Amino acid sequence: MKIDVLALFPEIIAPALETGILKRVQEADKLTVNLHNLRDWATDKHKSVDDYPYGGGAGMILKPEPIFAAVAALNSEETAHIIYLTPQGTPLTQGVAESLSLETHLVLLCGRYKGVDERVRDRLVTTELSIGDYVLSGGEIAALVLIDAIGRVLPGALGDYESAHVDSFSQELLDHPHYTRPAEFGGMRVPEVLVSGHHENIEKWRYAEALKRTAKHRPDLLQKLELSEEDIAILKTAGLAE
Ligand SMILES: C[S@@+](CC[C@H](N)C(=O)[O-])C[C@H]1O[C@@H](n2cnc3c(N)ncnc32)[C@H](O)[C@@H]1O
Repeated sequence: MKIDVLALFPEIIAPALETGILKRVQEADKLTVNLHNLRDWATDKHKSVDDYPYGGGAGMILKPEPIFAAVAALNSEETAHIIYLTPQGTPLTQGVAESLSLETHLVLLCGRYKGVDERVRDRLVTTELSIGDYVLSGGEIAALVLIDAIGRVLPGALGDYESAHVDSFSQELLDHPHYTRPAEFGGMRVPEVLVSGHHENIEKWRYAEALKRTAKHRPDLLQKLELSEEDIAILKTAGLAE
C-alpha cells in the first residue's frame, strides 16, 4: 500500500514512521509513506498556501490551487482515495481502518487554520474522516493516527497477525484484561484460571471479561451485538443486566 500525505507540517509525522510496527511494515515493503509539503505546490514567490475567508471572519483558509495541483501530481493514475482529515468527517473506527488497509493508494489531506476551501471537498475529496469529537490545530496528528491504525492491520504486519484481530473493537467488544509475571504483585494475584493451563476455561473467562468490560465502559458497542442467553446470564451475574 502507498500513502501520500499532504500537509503544511509533515515533520510532525516523520519521526513516528521510524519506530515500531510502522518502521517494520515499511522495511518489509508492505507500506510506503511519502510525506509532502503543500508549499511545494504554491505558485507565488511567497509560497503562500492560505488566504483570508470570503465574507470575513477570523482565521485563514487553505487555498484550492496548491491542493488541486498536488493531488493531480500525486494521483496521476486517478486510482487513489483522497481522504480529508476533518472533525466534520465520519468517525474513524477499527472497521474503517481495516477496510482502508485493503486499498492500494491513499492520499491524506491535512488541514490547518480554519480548514480547506470548500471546493477541495466538493471536487477532490472522496472520504472525510474524523479521529474524534474535538478540534486539533492541524490534520497531521489525525493522519498519523490513521496511518498507525492502518499499518498495524496490514496482512503480516504483526509478528502474531491474530493479535490485531482480538484487540478491542475487532468483535465489537473491548479487549479482556491481560496479566504477566509475577503471579502475585503488591498483594494482587493473577486470576487462578489463567495459570490453570486449561485453554477452554481461559477462553471462556476472557470472553466473559471482555463482555463485562464492554457493558461497563461502552454499552453502546453491545447494542450492535446479538447477545446469547449465556451472555445475558454472564452480565446478570455481574450486575450489568436486568
Ligand atoms: C482548527 S481545525 C479546523 C476546524 C474547522 N474549522 C471545523 O470547525 O470543522 C484545522 C485542521 O485540523 C484537522 N483536524 C482538527 N480536528 C480534527 C479531528 N478531530 N479529526 C481529524 N482532523 C482534524 C483538520 O484537517 C482541520 O482542517
